[in-house]
Amino acid sequence: MKCFHFSNAGGDPREVDDSVTSKASKLSWARSLSVASSTLGSRRSEFDSDSKDFSDSVEFHKFLSQKRANDLRVFSFSELKLATRGFSRALLIGEGGFGCVYKGVVRVPNGHANDGSLSDMDVAIKQLNRNGPQGHREWINEVNLLGVIKHPNLVKLVGYCAEDDERGIQRLLVYELMRNKSLEDHLLGRVPSTLTWISRLKIAQDAARGLGYLHEEMDFQLIFRDFKTSNVLLDEDFNAKLSDFGFARQGPSEGFGHVSTSVVGTVGYAAPEYVHTGKLTAKSDVWSFGVVLYELITGRRAVERNLPRNEQKLLEWARHYVSDPRKFHLLVDPRLEGEYCIKSAQKLATLANKCLMKHPKCRPKMSEVVEILGSIIDGTISEFQCSLQAAVSEEEEKEEKLSEEDTESGTAKQGNNYLKKVLDFREMMSLRNKSIRRLDWKNWAPGLVRTW
Ligand SMILES: Nc1ncnc2c1ncn2[C@@H]1O[C@H](COP(=O)(O)OP(=O)(O)OP(=O)(O)O)[C@@H](O)[C@H]1O
Ligand SMILES: [Mg+2]
Repeated sequence: MKCFHFSNAGGDPREVDDSVTSKASKLSWARSLSVASSTLGSRRSEFDSDSKDFSDSVEFHKFLSQKRANDLRVFSFSELKLATRGFSRALLIGEGGFGCVYKGVVRVPNGHANDGSLSDMDVAIKQLNRNGPQGHREWINEVNLLGVIKHPNLVKLVGYCAEDDERGIQRLLVYELMRNKSLEDHLLGRVPSTLTWISRLKIAQDAARGLGYLHEEMDFQLIFRDFKTSNVLLDEDFNAKLSDFGFARQGPSEGFGHVSTSVVGTVGYAAPEYVHTGKLTAKSDVWSFGVVLYELITGRRAVERNLPRNEQKLLEWARHYVSDPRKFHLLVDPRLEGEYCIKSAQKLATLANKCLMKHPKCRPKMSEVVEILGSIIDGTISEFQCSLQAAVSEEEEKEEKLSEEDTESGTAKQGNNYLKKVLDFREMMSLRNKSIRRLDWKNWAPGLVRTW
């Protein structure tokens, strides 16, 4: 989905870190949809007018330079060209507003050996499209921030390339390869398997942890500003990490409630008060998180132009179902084929509604969201264990009855098979839990019991 960027009416005059003009919005909400296809010139000038838009205080720069980790690798363009076999279409794994993303293999210092030797590493290489809607400014922001901010739920930047030659500027970013691509790829069915209910909850919690870290756990607060399903990437174990810090910016300094800034983000995800006034707080990210929770529940995009008119805006469509318990099941992603826990889905929708409260102050902090998601996950697991236990007891009873009647009957054999399946499953789960010390989120679904 395309990002937008437009200047808006001025904000609080007490705020000093942005030279926001008092002009009315240059682009309306609807027009922002066409930004990606508008002329580059007008887009660029809007970016340029935002010259103090992020990471702009002296202290913040000091913080970045003090903390700057030296482990970002500087790659040459020829090295990355080789790594992607000349930016081969066969290695293209995605494309966004910044440019194309390729899979590649680079040589990096062997961390284990510590003897200066090199080893191969699979990476994702993003190449800035000089004619695209995002630019050099986002590239710098990404390198500056991801060079110093490290967290298990933020994607790792391995290095970058910045070369200028007679063909123009080359700006590339090299990330750890996230083998299960983006949450958007899964929800839109670009990958064959459907995400189970429990893995959706776990992904939501991981992403919430990433945002919580940015908002609450660093010396400086960072507001992500572009939280959406395509910026939630999944590794081989389906751990979720946030990517794309091009639009991230420093939150308000102490004593200030918000920062006034030009508006950037993606249509369908940005908080209404931010879009209308340019007043940015961490609660704008919380709103976007609420939108993503609804996408996880429904399997639908925030805005989908290919649906009938009354279904195009997810939040408007969902409103009709969420308030009526009899209709609630119609909201849930049909690709789950009933393999979810309704109570858990209702609790998730309640949490989403909290994140989508009109007044930013009424929305929860991300640390609270992490906690609530933890209890929803625990509740879902115990619900599953109870239904599994109930199914096993019921079958044991049946077995006893049947063996009393006629041990040779075909029905008894069927019952035996059923019980065996349940026990096999229990054994399998317990083995997995023992070996990996946690549930196999990817393959596990509470509804499994019901399908046999
Ligand atoms: N580190 C990575 N590992 C694996 N795949 C990636 C990685 N980074 C990006 N991708 C893939 O490339 C796609 C494009 O990513 P990109 O961040 O450039 O754009 P986007 O987030 O889809 O859109 P926008 O630019 O509007 O934010 C992603 O949806 C994902 O499938
Ligand atoms: Mg992205």
